[in-house]
Amino acid sequence: MSVVKINAIEVPEGAGPMLEQRFAQRLGEVENMAGFEGFELLRPTGGEKRYFVYTRWATEEDFRAWVESSAFKRGHAGDSGAEGHPGGPGGHPGGDAGRHPGGSGGRPPVGTGADLLEFEVVMSAGPGDGTDQD
Ligand code: HEM
Repeated sequence: MSVVKINAIEVPEGAGPMLEQRFAQRLGEVENMAGFEGFELLRPTGGEKRYFVYTRWATEEDFRAWVESSAFKRGHAGDSGAEGHPGGPGGHPGGDAGRHPGGSGGRPPVGTGADLLEFEVVMSAGPGDGTDQD
């Protein structure tokens, strides 16, 4: 059964474009992981203020393996700091600049906090997924 993991990232007013740019630079790091089924970066509209990082995986184990992989750690916190996701590095008050050696050039994170929301896919549909054969 596929699983969906959504990282909800709090972003200060005006910092959205910076966050989006950083994700754009890192997209390649997840695309080839075993069990990876999809990613969407969702920009908030309406009342929601957080960005949602939607990811879908074939199994829970595939997601866990990615979180423990060097690709994840490189993109998120260097080699040591990825422990404790979600929100592990979240909070990151000043002083953790440099925890993004691979991607953001040592700049501090844009987000001010993050929460991991976890789901199992019960049903899904899309264009052409219907059972009508005609
Ligand atoms: C559900 C799976 C994921 C989890 C648990 C997760 C975890 C996190 C956390 C805790 C942060 C810290 C937010 C902050 O910077 O304040 C973050 C930021 C970030 N993540 Fe993820 N993430 C996930 C998926 C992804 C994916 C798929 C990508 C790549 C496409 C990605 C790339 C990034 C980038 C670029 C940042 C911003 C770093 C910055 O502000 O400099 N993440 N993520």
